[in-house]
Amino acid sequence: MIHLTIRKERVPALGFGTWELTGRECVQGVEDALAVGYRHLDTAEMYRNEAEVGEGIRNSGVPREEIFLITKVLPEHFARDRTIRAARESLRKLGTDYVDLLLMHSTPSGVPLEETLGAMRELQDEGSVRHIGVSNFPPPMVEQATRHAHIFCNQVEFHPFNPQDALITQAREMDYLFTAYSPLAQGDVLDDAALKQMGEAHGKTPAQVALRWILQQGLAAIPRSSSDEHRRANFDVFDFELSDAEMRAVSALSH
Ligand SMILES: NC(=O)c1ccc[n+]([C@@H]2O[C@H](COP(=O)([O-])OP(=O)(O)OC[C@H]3O[C@@H](n4cnc5c(N)ncnc54)[C@H](OP(=O)(O)O)[C@@H]3O)[C@@H](O)[C@H]2O)c1
Repeated sequence: MIHLTIRKERVPALGFGTWELTGRECVQGVEDALAVGYRHLDTAEMYRNEAEVGEGIRNSGVPREEIFLITKVLPEHFARDRTIRAARESLRKLGTDYVDLLLMHSTPSGVPLEETLGAMRELQDEGSVRHIGVSNFPPPMVEQATRHAHIFCNQVEFHPFNPQDALITQAREMDYLFTAYSPLAQGDVLDDAALKQMGEAHGKTPAQVALRWILQQGLAAIPRSSSDEHRRANFDVFDFELSDAEMRAVSALSH
């Protein structure tokens, strides 16, 4: 596993996404992901699977403190009292007394940014939330958010077909965790001829090339899979390296 160090905190660079996983498939998926070695899990109140994620964690036997656990607050809960209530409800469902990272799921509309971030700071002060972050924020809004809280992370869509140059530069300058969601372009990377060819040279699949390309940039990725085989394959990206030329070639797919 590659770890990223963000303000002295070590975060496993590869996480497991759980969007669209529900019921037993989610419980078993999380349990299996932890058995494979994932130690970074992404959920959200929007996914309606926090109870299942929590059950998967407990079934796995992996100590809670070994897992970097993320959940997110829905935009309709961005008013102070609602944010606090929503986070408490997430903790109850997850069966834990803290999350490692609580994210605003998207940019706010209506409620001032400082109100939501203020509520998240209250949760941080009481120990329910270790770090505060945002998702789907463009660079100027991240900058604005930092006036109201220490922003630990911005989680955004990033894969070989979707450039995020400005945010990546900002994340490096401001030392926040840049987390790539939909790192496999929801499966589209699998059909790309250039990624296929590059993968063949390393005995790897296009999905593994895409994940390795993200990790080698010092960024985090949270691929999701309902398949045991795919979860294992996505975790098998630590035994090869893309050359500088290969890194540039993947980046060129979106430029
Ligand atoms: N913050 C946000 O607004 C936001 C938005 C979207 C997503 N997210 C987070 O990011 C996570 C990942 O993004 P995503 O779920 O949109 O898409 P993704 O991880 O890019 O792709 C998931 C798709 O790829 C397939 N897949 C995964 N590994 C594979 C492999 N090795 N070989 C072949 N197919 C493979 C999966 O099918 P199988 O199930 O068949 O493997 C699934 O259809 C989400 O689960 C969620 O936690 C956050």
